[in-house]
Amino acid sequence: MNAFVDNSSIWSEVGQARPHESAAMHVAGEATYTDDIPEVQGTRHAALGLSQKVHALIKSIDLDAVKNAPGVIAVFTAKDIPGVNDCGPIIHDDPILADGKVEYVGQPIFIVVADSHDHARRAARKAIIDYEELPAILTPQEAKQANTFVLPPLRLQRGDFKRAIDASPHRVSGELYVGGQEHFYLEGQIAYVIPKEGHCMQVLCSTQHPSEMQHVVAHALGLHSHQVVVECRRMGGGFGGKESQSALWVAAAAICAARLHRPVKLRADRDDDMMVSGKRHCFHYEYEAGYDDDGRITAVKVEMVLRAGFSADLSGPVATRAVCHLDNAYYLSDVDIAAMCGKTNTQSNTAFRGFGGPQGAIAIENIIDNIARNLGKDPLEVRKMNFYGRDEAEGRNTTQYGQKVADNIIHDLIAELEASSEYHQRRIAVREFNNKSPILKKGIAITPVKFGIAFNVTHLNQAGALVHVYGDGSVLINHGGTEMGQGVNTKVAQVVAQELGINLRHVRCTATDTSKVANTSATAASTGADLNGKAAQQAAHSIRERLAHFIAKEWGVDITTDAAAIRFADDMVRSDRHAIPFTELVQKAYLARVQLWSDGFYATPNLQWDAKTLNGSPFSYFAYGAAVSEVIIDTLTGEWKLLRADLLYDAGNSLNPAIDIGQVEGAFIQGMGWLTTEELWWNKEGKLMTHAPSTYKIPSVSDCPDHFSVKLFKNKNSVDSIHHSKAVGEPPLLLSFSVFFAIRDAIASVAHYTINPVLNAPATCEAILHAVESVRAVNMDHP
Ligand code: MTE
Ligand code: HPA
Ligand code: MOS
Repeated sequence: MNAFVDNSSIWSEVGQARPHESAAMHVAGEATYTDDIPEVQGTRHAALGLSQKVHALIKSIDLDAVKNAPGVIAVFTAKDIPGVNDCGPIIHDDPILADGKVEYVGQPIFIVVADSHDHARRAARKAIIDYEELPAILTPQEAKQANTFVLPPLRLQRGDFKRAIDASPHRVSGELYVGGQEHFYLEGQIAYVIPKEGHCMQVLCSTQHPSEMQHVVAHALGLHSHQVVVECRRMGGGFGGKESQSALWVAAAAICAARLHRPVKLRADRDDDMMVSGKRHCFHYEYEAGYDDDGRITAVKVEMVLRAGFSADLSGPVATRAVCHLDNAYYLSDVDIAAMCGKTNTQSNTAFRGFGGPQGAIAIENIIDNIARNLGKDPLEVRKMNFYGRDEAEGRNTTQYGQKVADNIIHDLIAELEASSEYHQRRIAVREFNNKSPILKKGIAITPVKFGIAFNVTHLNQAGALVHVYGDGSVLINHGGTEMGQGVNTKVAQVVAQELGINLRHVRCTATDTSKVANTSATAASTGADLNGKAAQQAAHSIRERLAHFIAKEWGVDITTDAAAIRFADDMVRSDRHAIPFTELVQKAYLARVQLWSDGFYATPNLQWDAKTLNGSPFSYFAYGAAVSEVIIDTLTGEWKLLRADLLYDAGNSLNPAIDIGQVEGAFIQGMGWLTTEELWWNKEGKLMTHAPSTYKIPSVSDCPDHFSVKLFKNKNSVDSIHHSKAVGEPPLLLSFSVFFAIRDAIASVAHYTINPVLNAPATCEAILHAVESVRAVNMDHP
C-alpha cells in the first residue's frame, strides 16, 4: 500500500453492504450453535415431563416407571430445586416445575436425566399423575368475563372521548380478533450446563438475555451471580421467544447439573418446545370511533384484552407497548384506551417481534379501513388525512402518551412509495380486473408504520462493551448484545472498524459472555445495534485517543488545538505530513506501554416514562416505513396469493444496507405469516393441537411474491443515534398489515366495496372464504 495515497476522506466501513459476519460459516455448516459444541465427557441428557391437564391440582405423582426406564439416571421435581422455584422475569409467578398445581397442558412437572436424549424423552412419558381437575379459562374474552388478569388493567385517556364521540358526525364500532404466533425459531430452546469448581456453573445456551439467565440460575441454585457464567455465541433465531423464556430450559438443566455434579444438556424437540413455551399474545378488541365527513378521526375508544397465559412473564410491557402503538402514524385527539392481560390456562405468552406494537397498531388500521369504506374513499386518503402533523404549529404531533413526534417523515415516505409503486394506477387496474373477473378477485392496500425505538422500561436502555486491540493490530469485541441472525455483531464490528479506521476483516466479535460484560439487557426492542454499537464505539474511541496522543507526541503534532490532526482511515494513521500503518502504530504503542484495550458504556439519553400514568417520552425516536401489497383471492376456495409487494423502510443512515434489507424482507414475511396462515388452535381440553410444522403453517420461499421490492428511505436520524442510523429489527413486521388489508379489499370487491367484511386474523383460506360468503349474503339482503 502506498502510504501517501490518502483515501481517508472517502474511506468508510459503516454504511457499507457487508455480508453477515457468519454468512460463510452458516452456508458451510460450520457456525457453532449450542448443540454443536462438543460435549464434555460424562454429559447427561434431560427431558421435561409435561402436564396433560389444563388446570388441575396434582394429587400424586408416581415416577417409578420413569425411574426404571432404560438409561434413566435421575428424576427431579420441584422439591429437588436447591434455591427458588421461579424463573419469572418481572413478577415471580413462574414456577420452573409445577408444585401441587398445573395451569396449562404442557407445563413442566418434572425433569428426567438419562444417558441419552432419546432415553430421557421416552422415559418422560411414563409418569402416572393423579390430577383433580379444575375449571379452565382459555380465551381472553373468557378471562375478561371472569375478571381474571395476571396484572392490573392499563388505561390511557386523553382529551374527552365521551364529549368527542357525542359530537362526531359519524361513528364506527365493532370487534376484532387477532391471533397469536409461534416463534418458530429454527433452532429450538436449548441449554447445556457444565459444573465447575466451587459450585460454579458454566451455562452454554441459546438466549437473547444472558444476564437474566445468569440471574435465574443463581436464584434457582442458591448461588452468587459471580458463580454463574453464561455464554451464547449465536442463536438460530430468537424473535423474542428467547428474551425471557430461555430461562425455563436453562434453569432446568442447571438444577440437574447441580444435583448430579455432571454436565447436563436439555434440548427441546419441536413439539415440546411448542407445547411448553409462550407465543405472541392474541388480542381481542372492542372499538368505537367517531369521524367527520372527510374521514378525519375525532374520537377513539379501544378496549383490548390479550391472552397473557397462566403467568405475567412480559405481558405488562407488551400491553404497554400496544397502548403506545394504538396511534400507529395517526394523531388521535380524544382517546380512551384500555389493555387487560387476561389470565388463561395456556402457555405464558411473551415477547415476539414488535412486542405488542403490531397488535396495538392493527386496531387503528382496521378502524381506518372501515371508515374509508363507509365513506367510499381510498383508504390511503383517509390515512394521510389522519397522519401526525409535520410540525408543532399544526398542533397534531403529540402522541396519546405525551411524546412529541419530532422529525415526522411519514408524509414524504408515503409520497415516495405511492409514486414508485404506481399505487394509484394499480388500484384502478385492480378494480377493472375485478369488474371482469367473477371468481378471482384482486385487492390492494398501502399501510404506514411508525414504531417507537427504546425499551419501554427505561432502565433497560443501557449497554456495555469491551474492545481489545492485540499486538498484531487485530481487534476483538465483546458486547452485551446477542446474535440471533439479525447481524448485530456485523454492525458493531463495522462501528469499531470505522472508529479505528481499519478494514472490517481485522475485527471480530466473540460470543456474548456474562463474565466479560456485566448486567446487560436483553437484545430486544430492536435496540441491539443502537445500544451496543454506541458502547463499542466509546470503547474503540478511548483506544484511538490513546493511540492518537501517543503518535502525535512522536510526530510532534499538536492535537490539543486540532483533534482531527491525526486521522484513522483505510488501515492507516495519518497527520498532514506523516503516515503509519495501523498495525505498526499498535506495535509501537505496545512497546511504549500504552493500554490497548478499553471498556465502553452507553445509556440512551432523554428518556422519561411514568408507568403509572402511562405518560412521558419512552422512545428515543421513531422509525417509519410503508408498504403496498397486491393480492389475488379465489372466492370459491378462499385461497390467495401475494402478487406484489413494495416496501420502503426508514433505517436512517443505514449501518449496513444489505443486512437492513434482509431484516425488512424477513420481518414482512414473518408478519404476513402471523396475519394469514399461522393459526394456533387449542382443543376443548385446552391442548394446543398445532404444535408441529405439520399443523402450523409458516410462510416459505414460495409464499414470497414474484415482484418483491424492498428499499431503504434516504434519511438521517435526527437524534444522535449510532452514526444516525435507525433500528430495523421489529418495525418492518408491521408492513405486513398491507397484505391483510389487501385481502380485505379483495373480499370487499364481492359487494362492490359497500360492505366492511368481517375478517379476523389470521386470514386463513377458511376465514377468507367465510368472509366472502358473509359479504355475499349481506349483499343479497341489501342489493
Ligand atoms: N432477525 C433474525 N434473523 N432473527 C431473529 O431472531 N429477532 C427480531 C429482530 N430480527 C430476530 C431478527 C427481534 S424480535 C428483535 S427485538 C431484533 O431482531 C433484535 O435484534 P436487534 O436489536 O439487534 O435488531
Ligand atoms: N421490547 C422488548 N422487551 C422489553 C421491552 C420492549 O419494549 N420493554 C421491556 N422489555
Ligand atoms: Mo424482540 S420481541 O424485542 O426480542
